[in-house]
Amino acid sequence: MRIDIITCLPKLLDSFFAHSILQRAQQGGYVEVVVHDLRDYTLDKHRRVDDYAFGGGAGMVMQIEPIARCIRTLQADRTYDEIIYMTPDGERLNQKTTNTLSLRENLIILCGHYKGVDERVRELFITKEISIGDYVLSGGELAACVLSDAIIRLLPGVLNDETSALTDSFQDNLLAPPVYTRPAEFEGHRIPDILLSGHEAKIDEWRHEQALERTRTRRPDLLEE
Ligand code: ADE
Repeated sequence: MRIDIITCLPKLLDSFFAHSILQRAQQGGYVEVVVHDLRDYTLDKHRRVDDYAFGGGAGMVMQIEPIARCIRTLQADRTYDEIIYMTPDGERLNQKTTNTLSLRENLIILCGHYKGVDERVRELFITKEISIGDYVLSGGELAACVLSDAIIRLLPGVLNDETSALTDSFQDNLLAPPVYTRPAEFEGHRIPDILLSGHEAKIDEWRHEQALERTRTRRPDLLEE
């Protein structure tokens, strides 16, 4: 898989992809993440990528020309399955969407800034608009990191334990059950006996019941879906 991220703040993204699972995923050849500085695609001598909003009002708007130039340059080399714009008014991200996107070959993620992008960018280029929650961030970069992380960890081979992503919260619309590690007793608080029983089928059953109970009490909306 290849993910191209378009941003006017590339440095914000660099460290995020240079550590831990995301770094290993790239080094292992499971994903190629390429960050593009939108300012490299402007013809403005001051490298500006934004301008005042027509009709007035506070806040700058990201111009269409540099974005169009950048997307078309990328499209000259390969076909993209989705061109995604990170925006608080997009569809809310969930596990189903990340599962689907993890099956794609090539993705572009455009990070918004200021008051957002010229509406014509959305009409002409964007195929999917995604929000990571009902709150407004200063820019789409953090949201692009969240989306990329959620996708990349699903790529086969990226996680050490291949089954690990399958037992995450939200797979099957269930929250994950509680987990414990040593010591088995901490200041009088013991872990559930079943986990020491060695009885695999019973442990699976216990975990499923716990997952159901947790979902029922914390996120009943997931069970209604
Ligand atoms: N940009 C600003 N806020 C955002 C959000 N909540 N989700 C996605 N992109 C954003």
